[in-house]
Amino acid sequence: MTPLKDIRSGFLDFFGDRDHRIVPSAPLVPADDPTLLFTNAGMVPFKNYFTGAEKPPHPRATSTQKCVRAGGKHNDLDNVGYTARHHTFFEMMGNFSFGDYFKEEAIELAWTLVHKEFGLEKDKLTVTVFSEDDEAAALWKKIAGIPESRIIPISTSDNFWMMGDTGPCGPCSEIFYDHGPDIPGGPPGTPEEDGDRFIEIWNLVFMQYEQQGPDKRIELPKPSIDTGMGLERMAAVLQGVHDNYDVDLFRHLIGASEDLFGVKAEGERQASHRVIADHMRSTSFLIADGVTPSNEGRGYVLRRIMRRAMRHAHHLGAKEPVLWKLTQNLVDEMGEAFSQLERAQPLIEETLRSEEERFQRTLGRGMSILEDALDELPEGEKLPGETAFKLYDTYGFPLDLTQDALRPLGREVDTQGFETAMEKQKETARQSWSGSGDAAPEAVWYGVREEAGATEFLGYGSCDDTGALKAIVAGGERVKNAAAGDEASLVFDRTPFYGESGGQIGDAGEILFDNGARAEVYDTIKRAEDLHVHLVRIVEGEVGEGDAARLVVDQDRRNRTVANHSATHLVHAALRDVLGPHVTQKGSYVGPDRLRFDFSHPRALADEEIDRIEAQVNQVIRQNDASETAEMEPDAAIEAGALALFGEKYGDRVRVLTMGRNLDAADAPYSVELCGGTHVARTGDIQLFKIVSEGAVAAGVRRIEAFTGEAARQYMLEQARLLRRSADALKIAPADLPDRVTALSDEKKKLERQLSEAKKQLALGGGGSAAPGPEDVAGVKLIARVAEGVGGKDLRGMVDEAKSQLGSGIAVLIGVNEGKAAVAVGVTKDLTDRFSAVDLVKVAAEAVGGKGGGGRPDMAQAGGPDGAKAEAALDAVRGALKEKEAA
Ligand code: ALA
Repeated sequence: MTPLKDIRSGFLDFFGDRDHRIVPSAPLVPADDPTLLFTNAGMVPFKNYFTGAEKPPHPRATSTQKCVRAGGKHNDLDNVGYTARHHTFFEMMGNFSFGDYFKEEAIELAWTLVHKEFGLEKDKLTVTVFSEDDEAAALWKKIAGIPESRIIPISTSDNFWMMGDTGPCGPCSEIFYDHGPDIPGGPPGTPEEDGDRFIEIWNLVFMQYEQQGPDKRIELPKPSIDTGMGLERMAAVLQGVHDNYDVDLFRHLIGASEDLFGVKAEGERQASHRVIADHMRSTSFLIADGVTPSNEGRGYVLRRIMRRAMRHAHHLGAKEPVLWKLTQNLVDEMGEAFSQLERAQPLIEETLRSEEERFQRTLGRGMSILEDALDELPEGEKLPGETAFKLYDTYGFPLDLTQDALRPLGREVDTQGFETAMEKQKETARQSWSGSGDAAPEAVWYGVREEAGATEFLGYGSCDDTGALKAIVAGGERVKNAAAGDEASLVFDRTPFYGESGGQIGDAGEILFDNGARAEVYDTIKRAEDLHVHLVRIVEGEVGEGDAARLVVDQDRRNRTVANHSATHLVHAALRDVLGPHVTQKGSYVGPDRLRFDFSHPRALADEEIDRIEAQVNQVIRQNDASETAEMEPDAAIEAGALALFGEKYGDRVRVLTMGRNLDAADAPYSVELCGGTHVARTGDIQLFKIVSEGAVAAGVRRIEAFTGEAARQYMLEQARLLRRSADALKIAPADLPDRVTALSDEKKKLERQLSEAKKQLALGGGGSAAPGPEDVAGVKLIARVAEGVGGKDLRGMVDEAKSQLGSGIAVLIGVNEGKAAVAVGVTKDLTDRFSAVDLVKVAAEAVGGKGGGGRPDMAQAGGPDGAKAEAALDAVRGALKEKEAA
């Protein structure tokens, strides 16, 4: 039996030996492509090579690409677990020609691999071609000798492959493997094609077009080849099994899950184990590529996958977070081929564990919402689809979980309504994904890049240097000249200006042309990967392509930025030391004014942790060692322990920055990180580091904001000033402030209590000798008072008090606060059969412009907007009592 990993390497070597460059898998989050949710095919990282926007470094490539098909155009999530072949995560192996070979050689190569290398017999294979593609049909006959009866023309979109709503596309030809007559199903194009007998193993796309919009399709500059073979399917064929979940890799993953839950993958439990094995793969790879569970976009798809796995874990009996324990097994299985898994292992485990904890909380809340909804539901009616969708969407309940919960009660879900709600939401999701992103004319920048080459960056060593102007872009187009008053984007052959990237903002400064012209640079950005684009205002003279100039970076601004950037590296190292290795960078902002650092961590930092982090960073600053940079290959750097961003696509050579000495082991460095940014020469140049805030940005992501150098000193000075001003106001020493503030606040509360007590006493006439006693109305004793400044909260107690003073009688109290009236009426028990507090409070409330009121016969409360009518309200109650007596 050929192990899956040998099939992977066999494929790559086959094409490697035939002059294809073996390219490592790109991250699952497509770089610079907001039109796509996840990398969903092997060609995605090469999109710009097909369209001609970017020139490939080599005309042929091969790869095994991590793909996720969940959400977006290609979505398999709902089928996983219940079929033999659906996955949310899979590897797509492919060979690519960027305007090099085309149809004939692609078919030739494919045939040689499946038939001669992999040894699949000819009569087990069937192929499809696009119905208009007679050429492909003829080639299959000529090259492979496949009989016409097994070359099936298909006219549907099945044989016209598109990456998404836009992007490269073309007719395709698919190779099917026949798993034999024991398995139900028919050949492609027949009514039985959805059965499991004939399985597509390889798709050859003859890329000829680019879809640019719903009605716009143009020819590609050169016809190209894109192919995709699902590794898991091929493994099933070569290992003689029919089901992808029976290949060696999945058997190991499912075995680990059986051990963990102590439940065999049999009968109705089988689907749960399969879902867990599949979802652990997509979850782990997505997290390793920088996605965090959240409520929108990519993070939301990840959350849905994770929760689906968790509900199956629950079904298998999990009572506490357990899935994270399967990470180790996945790393053992796939870490060799994908080293980022091992690197991200602590992060994956921590993310899984905290999401599991969170879901266990919503599970309870969701169940009670479901029960409430059922209580209100008339007999025999289905649970509204909207409710099921809300449970699904907000509380993470998949539809099947809701159905499971209802089944014992004999109730059903309105699945039609659920689908409608789901469709509505999908539509919103689709809309928010299309058309967002950088509106800048990408093609213009790639054009400049092609012509002028990459910008040589001089700014690691110098801030003042010379260069020649290579391109001017204004109003989104190339122009030849720009003159005083114009805004333009300038590209030089070389520059000391840093272009915004990796969180560090772009440089500002000025450009002095040899011809006397002058431009102010207000920002520098990067385009087409390595062009530094200066955004300028021309303030004097005229400039044209070819002009020579002196480029002068605003040195002070750069120095402050650099100190903040180096400080983010130190804070990253300190966070990992103090909080643990699950901490990884999730984003940063580094400007001249301050720094911001986002990182994965499930809870708020304690004061003591913040102290330790700040202290460590300052300690390394004081070491004042020289920073060291080295250039190497990314893999070598990561191997050597350098921290890298998850999901970042690095170039062939990367800069590795080492700063400081480890605080426990002086021969080891403190911080080692991959970074293309600019940094301090010695850690002492940062001078001082001060954290000013720590808070949450999203679930599991925290943010630290901090200052360095003079900004940090200013901040501390300001804090000291505030302290001194507060102490001066109280005429005490600053050191006495905390005690004094507590004492003052306690005293204030005490005084407020006393004041409210005094107001009540006054209102009830307890205090002064002039206070009137109860009056006699209609034969009952009545206390009827207006209490200025007493709120509704206090009235109740006052009415109770009045009732006990009276023994037998009625109390009506109206508190007037900020012009509004609050009314409380009490009737002693012996009188409630004659007078109801609820009726009386209504009378009073009406008089002050209010409505209603509520309570019991012995105590009721109400309110009204018109406090000026309080006395009239008391009269109204007196009138009502008399009327009642007369009746
Ligand atoms: N891009 C083609 C596919 O995904 C090969 O099927």
